[in-house]
Amino acid sequence: MKNLIAANWKMHFDVKEAEDTAKRMASTIKFNGIDIVVCANFTHLDRLNGIFNAGSIKLGAQNMYFEERGAFTGEVSPLMLKAVGCEYVIIGHSERRHIFNEDDELINKKVKSAIEHNLIPIFCIGETYDEREKKQAFSVIERQIESGLRDVDIENVIVAYEPVWAIGTGVAADMATIDKMHNFVRPFVDDVPILYGGSVKPNNAEELAHIENLNGFLVGGASLKAEDFKEIIEKFTKIKGEKYA
Ligand code: 13P
Repeated sequence: MKNLIAANWKMHFDVKEAEDTAKRMASTIKFNGIDIVVCANFTHLDRLNGIFNAGSIKLGAQNMYFEERGAFTGEVSPLMLKAVGCEYVIIGHSERRHIFNEDDELINKKVKSAIEHNLIPIFCIGETYDEREKKQAFSVIERQIESGLRDVDIENVIVAYEPVWAIGTGVAADMATIDKMHNFVRPFVDDVPILYGGSVKPNNAEELAHIENLNGFLVGGASLKAEDFKEIIEKFTKIKGEKYA
């Protein structure tokens, strides 16, 4: 099973900050048997491609549209992402689902289009606090997987379980919950890596890495500092690196 740790920089850096952080990452993070991906803003991808080009860090986008070209003002196509060196693209992040009203059908089109264009989708799923309170966590996850991955060749997908209530709070979901949710997701996606996201930090990465069906992380806030991101990678590989690499 491939392990992977991805940074989601969200809408945080200007281009200079992105370049500086990318350079620090490129010079300090060495190949260690797992895939490392940085998902940056569209406007920074071309520059970052130049920085990551020769190294072991791969480039990803945070979103895309499913069409190749046309009258879709404000959108970015898979061809455009490929042209600036992207290998990965986050699809269906909870912020896209909840702030920008992306539904399962649109997400499914994006996942399929990414794969058709040789981009690896990091397909995000996760329940909200309200859904968990109403005991709907499993049914929501099941619906997101079944609709989002309908007619998709899943061997080309990475799944990221990100409970919405643990994103950006500083407190990750507890081990038992993540274990239960990843075990629930596993039969739907066979050998596909399942990442966890939601307040992953240097101080909890090692403990979280012990979860059996957890094959890496999708890291938001803590990926904005090269040193913290590197520490998360080291803590993870200490537990899973040799065994799974
Ligand atoms: P945080 O790590 O900041 O909680 O963000 C998680 C996330 O949304 C990654 O996609």
